Amino acid sequence: MVPSGVVLNVSEATQKAQVLIEATRWIRRFRDRLVVIKLGGSALEDPEVVRNLLKDVVFMETVGVRLLLIHGGGKAINAAMKKSGIQPRFVQGRRYTDPETLEIVTQVLAGEICGELVTQINAAGGQAVGLSYLTQNVLLAEKLFLADENGVPLDLGFVGQVVEVNRDLLLKTIDAGKIPVIPSVAVDWQGQKYNVNADTAAAAVARALDAEKLIFLSDVSGIYRNRHDPGTLLSHLTEAECRGLIADGTIDSGMVPKVEAALDALKAGVQKVHVIDGRTPHSLLLEIFSDQGIGTEIVANPGDSGRTTTGTPSSSSSHPATGSMQKQSLHPAARRSSQATIDIFKQYVIPNYNRYPISLVHGEGSYVWDAEGNRYLDLFPGWGCNILGYSPPRLVQRITEQIAHLIHVPNTWYTEAQGDFAAALCSRSFGKAFFCNSGTEANEGAIKLARLHGSSKGRYKIITFENSFHGRTYAAVSATAQPKYHEGIGPLVPGFVYAPLNDLDAVRRLVDRETCAIMIEPVQGEGGVNIPDETFLAGLKQICRENDMLLVFDEVQTGMARLGTWFGYQQWNVQPDILTLAKGLAGGVACGAFIATEEVAPSLKPGKHASTFGGNALAMAAGLATVETIVEDRILENVHTQSARFREHFLKLQKELPIIREVRVRGMMIGVDLNIPGMPAVGKCMERGVLVNCTHETVIRLLPSLNIDAHQVDEGVAVVSEVLREMAAQHKK
Ligand SMILES: Cc1ncc(COP(=O)(O)O)c(C=O)c1O
Repeated sequence: MVPSGVVLNVSEATQKAQVLIEATRWIRRFRDRLVVIKLGGSALEDPEVVRNLLKDVVFMETVGVRLLLIHGGGKAINAAMKKSGIQPRFVQGRRYTDPETLEIVTQVLAGEICGELVTQINAAGGQAVGLSYLTQNVLLAEKLFLADENGVPLDLGFVGQVVEVNRDLLLKTIDAGKIPVIPSVAVDWQGQKYNVNADTAAAAVARALDAEKLIFLSDVSGIYRNRHDPGTLLSHLTEAECRGLIADGTIDSGMVPKVEAALDALKAGVQKVHVIDGRTPHSLLLEIFSDQGIGTEIVANPGDSGRTTTGTPSSSSSHPATGSMQKQSLHPAARRSSQATIDIFKQYVIPNYNRYPISLVHGEGSYVWDAEGNRYLDLFPGWGCNILGYSPPRLVQRITEQIAHLIHVPNTWYTEAQGDFAAALCSRSFGKAFFCNSGTEANEGAIKLARLHGSSKGRYKIITFENSFHGRTYAAVSATAQPKYHEGIGPLVPGFVYAPLNDLDAVRRLVDRETCAIMIEPVQGEGGVNIPDETFLAGLKQICRENDMLLVFDEVQTGMARLGTWFGYQQWNVQPDILTLAKGLAGGVACGAFIATEEVAPSLKPGKHASTFGGNALAMAAGLATVETIVEDRILENVHTQSARFREHFLKLQKELPIIREVRVRGMMIGVDLNIPGMPAVGKCMERGVLVNCTHETVIRLLPSLNIDAHQVDEGVAVVSEVLREMAAQHKK
């Protein structure tokens, strides 16, 4: 309706109407489609340009395009750094980000630019919401590792790469009619903020959301054959053509990461990527709602299905264990694909282990990544050795400091580290320590010591327990009362007799004048997470006392805070004469030990036992850092808290699922015993990005890192529960 008194300019109005009519097919084409827009470069500098761009954005949203914005802000950051007297420094095109720079980056991006964009979209009639660490974080990062041309790692400070995107939150926000605005700042699982490249972050989001289009709005109007000749704009390029242009140098410098990000997004299924100049009025509308477009559009090679996998490079959606692994890009720590490593193993490594078809390349805390960049929550990290998770920072630092001085010194010398670690252990338990390198060696040494101690009285027999596991060397495997480990390797070391668990009378019947010791795991691990009756260990101590025998506790698994006390025996207040340790003793560095009482220790005389590498400086430094971390990070408390959380979750699940026979939890040793085979759960969990173990056919076994947090417990249990529900449903059929 034309207001009265205003003369209608018919030709102008007709033209406008025609534009609208022409736009109909494009509007229809893009209604409900998802478009990710990355805003950056000096397009962000000019308020007028930004205002116009955001008007286009609001228009697109109004006609039904589902949108989100990701923005950088390099120039504003440079200005803020200059103001603070900090000189920007770039390493391989990335801004070196020390803590001061990080503070500025996060403040400028999340605090200022993001807020300003939200305000302007709202002023233009849209509804925007800023999603960042200040509100709700949607970008999860890990530290980015780059190396120079010689493979020497480069220090980039707090520069990260997006490894996971909160897809659900983004889709919920968009479906609620809002436009998410995301600054290029991401946060890792520990809450550490990272400066991330906005182009690659936008590509990660586009991949995670299966976006139809990814648009890079910058201050270049596309890709040119000759940058200095505007007539050479390449309006349409395939992936292969882009590769060619990178190889011949036509695409160079800052455009390379942008195009690489575009190619990554295409590989993951994004259908088109556009590079356009945000400074051109209505560039967005012209690119999307017209035949010609005004920048460069990049598409997959003809014939490529494009879609290889959904999610970010490290999302849990596609794991090689499923056989559907098709990712092209590798984790930055990987030198080759999983398959290439498997091929080397096939040729050169004795195939005595059943291995999952995955090569692991990087770990942080409770998470581990494979060569293809898939991330797993590991509820069985290092088979119980990585008690502080993967590469705990204090350990990394202490090991690095130690190896600069001494790695190995034989036991013909004294070292400070060995003395300090022995003191740290014995002051928390008893007696004196001997160091070796593994659990089986610790048990081998303990068995020798028990026999040496009893030898003057002609005693050598040792009672062990059914379903025990003590290791693979000859005495340790002979002590292991499981026939499957004895098949084909006999004759075993004589002198071991086996009793059922929790049967003190049976133990008494096995004792004779030649028995020197009883050896037991306070909680059987490999045997199925079998927790003894509350009075059983005290009963064994009593039998030893009555018969002048030694009590040996194999705490290779239960020691070092695993059960919520420094050593397992402290749970039952039953002190053994010899205590063996390994697994988590040095936080994942190979290390074993046994501790013997003041009375028993002297039976190990010089020449009777030794280990060349035992007590080496590297392992001792790692052990000390492990003890320190347990104290300083209040790990014992965490074990109690998270153990209770696991127990509660699994007991609830047991009520729901009759396939769960029993839930056995002691500290961070967790067994969910099924009445159906448990092995399929391992693969099914792995497909969903969670690692668990199955032992004794039916027991789903978890030995989580002792610093696991509540979020990770919930995340892991949710996956295990989903898998067990699925198995229960299949079992019913
Ligand atoms: C209780 C116990 N003892 C001994 C061992 C053997 O340890 P290693 O493999 O370090 O020789 C293990 C390994 O799982 C164990 O759980």
